[in-house]
Amino acid sequence: MPQTSRRSDGGAFLREWLSDPLRVASVAPSGKALAAMMTREIDASTGPVIELGPGTGAFTDALLKRGVPEESLALIEMGTNFVNLLRYRLPRATVLEMDATRLGKITLFDGKPAGAVVSGLPVLAMPPRAVMLILHGAFHHLREGGAFYQFTYGPLCPVKRPILDRLGLTAKRVGGAMINLPPASVYRITRAVR
Ligand SMILES: C[S@@+](CC[C@H](N)C(=O)[O-])C[C@H]1O[C@@H](n2cnc3c(N)ncnc32)[C@H](O)[C@@H]1O
Repeated sequence: MPQTSRRSDGGAFLREWLSDPLRVASVAPSGKALAAMMTREIDASTGPVIELGPGTGAFTDALLKRGVPEESLALIEMGTNFVNLLRYRLPRATVLEMDATRLGKITLFDGKPAGAVVSGLPVLAMPPRAVMLILHGAFHHLREGGAFYQFTYGPLCPVKRPILDRLGLTAKRVGGAMINLPPASVYRITRAVR
């Protein structure tokens, strides 16, 4: 049975990072300030929400607190231990063990479009082709007006301009969590208005 106490999440995260540092990309789960910043434009009226790279569920908890029903969540995670933990804690959510680059190939919520995608993926460390596939897949699921939220510890949007332009997307920094260590910025990526 997976360890279920929130206090054990730090240890679970560190063990996962030690087993695959490139994939996990962080030694600890995101803090509450960043989780609040990532989810503050989302609520029960947003509709289904897809979360990429939920880990131990720091952003998932914030989404539930914002009023998104558990059954309106699809969690896409590559780490088996994280998947087992999330399935145990959130039996009504859709938890898929898969690479987020395959997002465009699957059906979610019986084909109903999603209102938002929340990404905890380490996109800065990913090859451009993988980032392109992830965004292409995400916008395949997003309804008109839907948004993709991505955080970064870097100074610029972690999705590079050529990828945004190629997919007809635009990015805007919508906030920062300065008390987060290290400080983080949140970007909202949407379809560009033509
Ligand atoms: C930096 S951690 C963020 C975890 C969590 N969102 C948080 O903020 O605490 C990155 C997460 O993305 C997952 N991940 C990395 N690459 C992935 C991929 N290609 N597909 C799905 N999940 C991936 C890792 O297993 C890890 O859970």
